[in-house]
Amino acid sequence: MSAPGTDRWYAVENADEIASPALLVWPDRVQHNIDVMIAQTGGDPARLRPHVKTHKLGEVVRMQRESGIDKFKCATVAEAEMCAQAGAGDVLLAYQPVGPNIGRMLELSRKYPDTSFAALVDDAENLDRIAAVFSAAGASLRVFADIDCGMGRTGIAPGDAAVALCRRAVDTAGVDFAGLHVYDGHIHDPDVKKRGERFEAALGLVAPFLARLDEAGVSVPLIVGGGSPTFPWHAEAIGRFGTIPYECSPGTTLLWDAGYTTKHPDLDFAVADVLLARIISKPGENRLCVDLGHKAVSGENPIENRVRFPDLPDARPVMQSEEHLVLETPEASRFAVGDVLYGVPWHVCPTVALHQEAVVIRDGRATGERWKISARDRRITV
Ligand SMILES: Cc1ncc(COP(=O)(O)O)c(C=O)c1O
Repeated sequence: MSAPGTDRWYAVENADEIASPALLVWPDRVQHNIDVMIAQTGGDPARLRPHVKTHKLGEVVRMQRESGIDKFKCATVAEAEMCAQAGAGDVLLAYQPVGPNIGRMLELSRKYPDTSFAALVDDAENLDRIAAVFSAAGASLRVFADIDCGMGRTGIAPGDAAVALCRRAVDTAGVDFAGLHVYDGHIHDPDVKKRGERFEAALGLVAPFLARLDEAGVSVPLIVGGGSPTFPWHAEAIGRFGTIPYECSPGTTLLWDAGYTTKHPDLDFAVADVLLARIISKPGENRLCVDLGHKAVSGENPIENRVRFPDLPDARPVMQSEEHLVLETPEASRFAVGDVLYGVPWHVCPTVALHQEAVVIRDGRATGERWKISARDRRITV
């Protein structure tokens, strides 16, 4: 694999065969990222439970399985099914199933008996609803208590109510208490020292909580924690909680993007996905319009942080609509209508979900192979 930033590794020899806009993926770079993840967890793939929401690709699940990773995290029922279809042994829906999604989890567990499914819970009444659905079917679902360690998005603070929730999960038929989930997605400081300190503050909440669970007679089989920015710290957290196994769950690490490259140059992952776009118009002396509207690259961030063009690093995005992105650049005269421009998405996860398939690039060429982004659908079969 050519090192990122050292050459135009993303330039595809037969680019003229690829219709734009297209999402390109480099399996050798994905493999590099898998290898780095495993090396960082001491060479033990069993300590990883990578999130699949970044890539939503069964092929990337299969690649990880071939490298010994068999446990995955996901955010939707469709992603859970995609993992099962790719043969995953253990899938955690890192989301609390509510309403009809509870029944879908039961259906999944019936349809894919070789995969063990689990889900998050943070609410006692909802725990009871899950338990009722599963016990009525003579089944049970593994549940992890979602502990809010400071993000404030989901989860329950590690206090009395959380102890009671874990106790209830142990005591209720239809669910099996599987452990704790601790996601620190609020920590993405570029400054490494500050990131480390904030990680400590977040994970520091866990040990006193474990002591309280112990007093309540609840034993914790497993802890699952973290994403990409704090991955190096989570990777070292093994042994921190006695004999309780600790799994790391980064997701963006598989494909990487311009946002994490910019904010976290300390992390050794390679961009493995690039958008192939073309100049579709030159509306003015210093302007280029490319076919990368916000239906091809995520528009969730301010316009200057949606995509980076390595061949035009100083281009200034000035306008974006559904299928158009207008750039201002003094280098516009270098380009003609129809020319290819490669763009690295700032945030790969929502960008992937805009594409139906990824065009596979091996040895610098599009091979004709296309990977279906199967879990971009909300429902696969269940
Ligand atoms: C619950 C959960 N775990 C893990 C991750 C992976 O984090 P990252 O995208 O930083 O790799 C995410 C990302 O959104 C998440 O929501």
